[in-house]
Amino acid sequence: MKIELVENKIYFISSSLKKEIHPFWLRERVNGEEFLDKNTQQRLFDPTSLNSNIAISKASISDDYLVINFNDGVHSKLNIEKIASEFSNEDKVIKSIDKVKWNSDLKNIKNFEYQDDLFDSKEMHDLLISFYQYGFVIIKNVPTNDNFIVKFANSIGSVRRTNFGEHFNVKSKPDPNDLAYTSLALAPHTDNPYRNPVPCIQLLHCIENKVNGGLSTLVDGLTVTEDLKTDHPEFYKILTEIKVKFKFIDKEIVLENWSPLIELSDDREFKQVRFSPRLDFVPVLDKDKLDLYYKARKKLSEKYNSDKYKIEFKLSAKDLIMMDNYRLLHGRTAYQASEGERFLQGCYIDYDSTEGKLRHLKRKFNL
Ligand SMILES: [Fe+2]
Repeated sequence: MKIELVENKIYFISSSLKKEIHPFWLRERVNGEEFLDKNTQQRLFDPTSLNSNIAISKASISDDYLVINFNDGVHSKLNIEKIASEFSNEDKVIKSIDKVKWNSDLKNIKNFEYQDDLFDSKEMHDLLISFYQYGFVIIKNVPTNDNFIVKFANSIGSVRRTNFGEHFNVKSKPDPNDLAYTSLALAPHTDNPYRNPVPCIQLLHCIENKVNGGLSTLVDGLTVTEDLKTDHPEFYKILTEIKVKFKFIDKEIVLENWSPLIELSDDREFKQVRFSPRLDFVPVLDKDKLDLYYKARKKLSEKYNSDKYKIEFKLSAKDLIMMDNYRLLHGRTAYQASEGERFLQGCYIDYDSTEGKLRHLKRKFNL
């Protein structure tokens, strides 16, 4: 990729492509104290108020800079590398991390160790990369005092508060408003599919786990989706198309959201899974279509619950797991509450927290 200058027109060249860069596009990017705030790098001018007939009166290339005089009297030096970094319209930080699809064979995944200076460290960068690769990461030895999970979440980004509060306590209790607060087994599910938007990332912090059961389970929804697409394309298709209603009711709130069990992005790639078979309501469709839908959902459920895909492990006190609620399903095996205490705390953060932190750390460590 390079810049070429021909008679005051500026071109970018990439492989066999040569395209003129619009003068207005360059004019929007002028820098210097008069045009950009020094600290925030935000514009001090409004490009929508500029004359749309902006043209280049004179241009030259000097070392790594484009030196341009615009016809409205503005003169600027633009860093070529910075300009070129914008030619690709894709996010370079998050999307460039290759997702590692996994199933029950997954072994030896790296755990991270909590330290006081973790959040602004290179270790945090590596932790976040691992999180985006596998969809989860475990951090050991995280302090458990004073709802530390909230501090932990707020040190990455911001807690996503819900009607369950800033954080929630997962232990069996009388008259629960969710099966999470019992000692029953929980089949693999995603959290809160009834919210709009669904919380992106769940943090679960083990405060105490003195029971024999109560193992944590995880399933990679990406792997299951890709396998379903290959093995049963007609099931995959209908599960990406039919929107179902997810609903949660409590004394003070009624939450509803409509979406397919497998949601694809605009370019038909994997975006998000939702699965919580106690909370979904399928619309009335033609009988034949429903016939196919129910077969498809059953197959999907079989896969999510299959030993082929599931990993099981025991969280110990001070372990904190961070998991992608758009990609992974989680659950737990049953336990006997009489054996001792099992107490986890949970909260949510959204992708802007982890993405913002990762971009910051890449900037800080020049990665
Ligand atoms: Fe859950």
